Amino acid sequence: MAVERTLSIIKPDATRRNLTGKINAVFEDAGLRIVAQKRIRLTDAQAGAFYAVHKDRPFYGSLVSSMTTDPVVVQVLEGENAVLKHREVMGATNPAQAAEGTVRAQFAESIEANSVHGSDSAENAAIEIAFFFSQIEIVG
Ligand code: PPS
Repeated sequence: MAVERTLSIIKPDATRRNLTGKINAVFEDAGLRIVAQKRIRLTDAQAGAFYAVHKDRPFYGSLVSSMTTDPVVVQVLEGENAVLKHREVMGATNPAQAAEGTVRAQFAESIEANSVHGSDSAENAAIEIAFFFSQIEIVG
């Protein structure tokens, strides 16, 4: 199995409720290693650029502004099959459909305030990691 890296964001609804440690524990218990992490406050322009792939979706404006209300914790997670493993432990985008024990089943408030973001492919992970981190900030 390949060792991969994926980009994870602990979203404002979760940092607001002081859930960073609890969410990190889920990731670490699943075998994902946090090899980079920083707490930042996204500007509207930064959130808009990050979610540009969704710019034609009806929820784009709301999603972007929801990402600027409180700090986010951006992180690089490393492990075997990290992209898929991370998506499994996050659970479905809509918390109503998320499997028991997943981050979203435990913590998410709604489809928008769903506590975490994760890259959906290794290709997008590389793009999303480079959006937030330089190589020197990632310590495997
Ligand atoms: S889709 O339909 O598969 O493209 O959507 P998905 O990849 O599951 O979701 C992409 C991100 O958009 C957010 N989202 C929404 N926000 C607000 N309202 C609605 N209806 C909505 N649907 C999806 C969702 O939280 C995803 O955020 P990230 O940060 O990528 O997980």
